[in-house]
Amino acid sequence: MTARLISVINQKGGVGKTTTAVNLAHGLALSGYRVLAIDLDPQAHLASSLGVTREDIAGLDAVFLKGIPLKSVQLKVRDNLKLVSAGGHLNEVENLEGGKSRGLLLKRALDQYDEAVDFIIIDSPPSSGLLVINALFAAEEILIPMTGDYLAMQGLSHLMSTLTNFEEALQKTYKQWIVLSRFHERRKLAQEVREKLIEYFPGSVLKTSISEAAALAESPGFGQSVFEYKENSKSADEYASLVKDVIKGRTF
Ligand SMILES: Nc1ncnc2c1ncn2[C@@H]1O[C@H](COP(=O)(O)OP(=O)(O)OP(=O)(O)O)[C@@H](O)[C@H]1O
Ligand SMILES: [Mg+2]
Repeated sequence: MTARLISVINQKGGVGKTTTAVNLAHGLALSGYRVLAIDLDPQAHLASSLGVTREDIAGLDAVFLKGIPLKSVQLKVRDNLKLVSAGGHLNEVENLEGGKSRGLLLKRALDQYDEAVDFIIIDSPPSSGLLVINALFAAEEILIPMTGDYLAMQGLSHLMSTLTNFEEALQKTYKQWIVLSRFHERRKLAQEVREKLIEYFPGSVLKTSISEAAALAESPGFGQSVFEYKENSKSADEYASLVKDVIKGRTF
């Protein structure tokens, strides 16, 4: 399987992980790529943002807890876009026994996944727990949405050292991408944070920042990506541009 495997990660809550996962996944699908989106968050916001609200259907919880193949729980949600929803019992995974192998549940499920896809996008919960460890074991690329404020910078340095520890333990190097999300263009602090990020992490900060905008707050309530909810909005343009950044690796 030659798919690009991207985990969207930030232990801080509400920074735009799910919004970015939804619109990146759908934007890639609209560009003709075959995409699998995986909801690794028991909150199941990725699924609901794409219009899948049923909690009684099996999802990633059944894959992890019962050993069912990923392929059998995926749902076709749009042209070129399949979704594995969290399922109603994903939080029970934190209580599983089995030591280190518990961190490998997602990687093992993906190793057995034999469908041809170009991108696998994983949305993760706001924690540093076992589910996020699964995202880190499975991923080759890490996409970090972050807001342009002071505390976000502090959180990022913590996250970066976690990633370095994983790289050493797993003997691999992640391609790391940072996207400024919920960005306030006219706010001086936000601009300063962006400048600092570009200075500290050259080659990682994606060219397009995503502005704070009503369309992005509203679209999940309709179960739609921004490309469906407001095709001609600034937010749709920004996410379309971010999709190209990810395809081409366009960074500062
Ligand atoms: N650029 C934006 N402009 C306006 N609202 C946004 C933007 N990005 C995200 N939001 C809204 O902010 C809230 C948090 O965003 P989102 O769910 O994407 O963050 P998250 O990091 O996935 O949160 P969690 O850590 O809880 O999973 C949501 O209500 C979302 O609709
Ligand atoms: Mg989320």
